Amino acid sequence: MPTIKRIDHVALVVDDLEAALAFWRDALGLRVSQTEEEPSEKTTVAFLPLGESEIELVQPHTADSGTAKFLAKRGPGMHHLCIEVEDLEALLARLQRQGVRLINETPVTKPNGVRYAFIHPKSTYGVLIELYEKPQ
Ligand code: CO
Repeated sequence: MPTIKRIDHVALVVDDLEAALAFWRDALGLRVSQTEEEPSEKTTVAFLPLGESEIELVQPHTADSGTAKFLAKRGPGMHHLCIEVEDLEALLARLQRQGVRLINETPVTKPNGVRYAFIHPKSTYGVLIELYEKPQ
């Protein structure tokens, strides 16, 4: 039985990570917990913890990635909302039975063991949703 747990992070796409950090870190005062290159996504991301959730800043490196196209079309701003769940596979199966359009029909595993899948914004009233399942 899948469980919907909490908002893990809210991701913003930015064209200049250092400039974005001048607001989120320096002016607002959040701390950066980690910065990582995501070669498969051709992005650099920074995570800034905020209560039980985090703000994720995503900067695309090349013009051809999904996030780069999003940035070119809509400008910097909110990119996706990430919800932590348990039993991601069962949840994806349930969503598919309900006719929900998935971007990833099977979970993708990150190097740190987190598994994720995206739901298409056409099925969620306009917001790209990422589902996260953390390793036990
Ligand atoms: Co994310």
